[in-house]
Amino acid sequence: MTEPTALKIEHITLPNRYFVAPMAGVTDRPFRQLCKRLGAGYAVSEMVTSRRDLWNSLKTSRRANHEGETEPISVQIAGTDAQMMAEAAAYNVDRGAQIIDINMGCPAKKVCNKWAGSALMQNEPLALDIIEAVVAACAPHRVPVTLKMRTGWSQVERNAVRLALAAESAGVAMVTVHGRTREQGYKGFAEYDTIAAVKAAVRIPVVANGDIDSPQKARDVLRYTNADAIMIGRAAQGRPWIFQEMAHYFQTSEMPQPPLVRDVKQWLLEHLADHYSLYGEYAGMLSARKHIGWAVRQLPGGEAFRDEMNTLQSCQAQVTALAQWLDRLAESNERLPLLTLNESYAN
Ligand SMILES: Cc1cc2nc3c(=O)[nH]c(=O)nc-3n(C[C@H](O)[C@H](O)[C@H](O)COP(=O)(O)O)c2cc1C
Repeated sequence: MTEPTALKIEHITLPNRYFVAPMAGVTDRPFRQLCKRLGAGYAVSEMVTSRRDLWNSLKTSRRANHEGETEPISVQIAGTDAQMMAEAAAYNVDRGAQIIDINMGCPAKKVCNKWAGSALMQNEPLALDIIEAVVAACAPHRVPVTLKMRTGWSQVERNAVRLALAAESAGVAMVTVHGRTREQGYKGFAEYDTIAAVKAAVRIPVVANGDIDSPQKARDVLRYTNADAIMIGRAAQGRPWIFQEMAHYFQTSEMPQPPLVRDVKQWLLEHLADHYSLYGEYAGMLSARKHIGWAVRQLPGGEAFRDEMNTLQSCQAQVTALAQWLDRLAESNERLPLLTLNESYAN
């Protein structure tokens, strides 16, 4: 097996073909940066609303903050009005976005009730209006526009191929397909036949997404769909080194050993420092809990530590507790002793 090579989105070259998926509330700048440092070839920001009245909110301005982020800077936008989406694209390009991604994949009610996210897949003319307006806004800046979608609205309305073809004709530079319908939410399993059909239909790069949680699964999905790249969401929560594992596996055809506990400690503490500096003391302490929880949940004693850590009330207390807990773990384990060997470590 050879390592997947670089991938081009128009004039922008990505170093590899394993990407971290946009996840609202997770893939903020510090987490994206951590994933990139640990080997992710590409990271899209959490979605930024097209509602101008919210652009100055703390939440949106944090989402539009790309200080120190490894290029290319890619920003996902969500909305239901073509003109507003075009303005949102231009606004983010002004703030450093080098790629604009249109969200037609998110099933959240908050997004879908307003006809945004994956709900747009049910209204192809509107979806296309939005795509054309965003492409027109980005073209003068040489900013590629990409699209993230699902396989369709429902089991009987799987229109991903039609929409991908229309998007390609309208100037979209890459399409990511999550192998579930909007109706499914996150239930059931991702299917890869529709992704393979999209790949067979278009000439632009296609990214396969959904339930990829190990390098072996990535290889299988790439082979099955013939996709150009894969995108990992939930499996990267608490395990951003999965991208390093991808690189190792694609280079050697062998799974690496679990990472050294001392490396994991360093990565997590650096991530926390970056996280606190973006969110500040109180908000940072609260939102760091989920990242710490995800990282320790698969380790012996991790659940108990998580309960204890959730009672701590300052960033410093979190840092000290995590550092001490990992130091104790390192006394008896040089490498991360995973509790439930998930498949990726099993063979
Ligand atoms: C917490 C969470 C937040 C998400 N937020 C977004 C989002 O803002 N935009 C988007 O396009 N997809 C979003 N997604 C969907 C993911 O990008 C991805 O398509 C989905 O999780 C399937 O990939 P996975 O099985 O690797 O997790 C989100 C998923 C999760 C779990």
